[in-house]
Amino acid sequence: MVPLVLDASRPRGLSETSAPPGAELAGRLASWWQSGPRAERDVLPWRATRDPWAVLVSESMLAQTQAARVAARYPDFLSAFPTPRVMARAGVAAVVRAWSGLGYNRRAVALFRLAEQLVERHGEAVPAHLDELLALPGVGAYIARAVLAFAFEEQVGVVDTNISRVLARAIAGAPLRTAPAQRLADSLVTGSPRDWNLALMDLGALVCRARDPRCAACPLAEHACAFDAARRRGEAIEDPARTSALAARRQAPFAGSDRELRGRLLRAACAGPVQLDASSFSDLDAARLARAAEALVAEGLLALAEDGSLALAQ
Ligand code: ADE
Repeated sequence: MVPLVLDASRPRGLSETSAPPGAELAGRLASWWQSGPRAERDVLPWRATRDPWAVLVSESMLAQTQAARVAARYPDFLSAFPTPRVMARAGVAAVVRAWSGLGYNRRAVALFRLAEQLVERHGEAVPAHLDELLALPGVGAYIARAVLAFAFEEQVGVVDTNISRVLARAIAGAPLRTAPAQRLADSLVTGSPRDWNLALMDLGALVCRARDPRCAACPLAEHACAFDAARRRGEAIEDPARTSALAARRQAPFAGSDRELRGRLLRAACAGPVQLDASSFSDLDAARLARAAEALVAEGLLALAEDGSLALAQ
């Protein structure tokens, strides 16, 4: 077996002479994925569909929420809003209510506005072009390419935290900024873009984990991964994924955070109009509470009534 030469400035698989390593990488990844992980992860409910709307909904949820939490909520959410028109007709309050508990609730408002735009400007169809996807509310590089790869089988690399980590450690052997990570991801896609990106994502989630990577179980480690090679040589190298694009940052504790406060306010508003001076909020600093409420109003999640109460925006 010819060892793969790592050169972050010239991604493997791109140069005329690098076809064997590119093919070898694809072969190793595919046989690892087919040997069990594919079936193991096929139980994730969004993997059963290629419907572009269903993919867009799942990727909006997955962009900032753990897969296990999304898996528990996605089937009911999609049943409630099976098409953009159903969501647009249901109104923003219904979407925010159904989203409750998934966190980062602005995404619910963005998804509702997106549904409205699909109905008004796209004949209810999710566009299959990058620029049109990126122009939709709440859609960034990750969601746009996930829809292109998973629903439309377009030749694009999806860069989420898992894939970014695999690329930095095993392919580049160096930290990757956003644009080079995207170029590298795009350049590597081999065979079905859906399968390629899911396999890389699963390798990151199951093996090339942020903490405690399971290099002994990695199909790329011995022959391809600069990070693993250095570890085998006993060199103490900095993990290239730590400073790469989308590197998972440790979150500040949830308890006592503004995120917790916003969640509390929103959950209360899901049950009915809220008065900020209600006894249920008496443990909170009034100025902080008012700031959180103002932000939720500005983001289109809550609306202020004439009597001073706050309710879900309609
Ligand atoms: N399958 C498709 N997208 C995914 C994601 N973001 N996380 C986990 N599995 C996925």
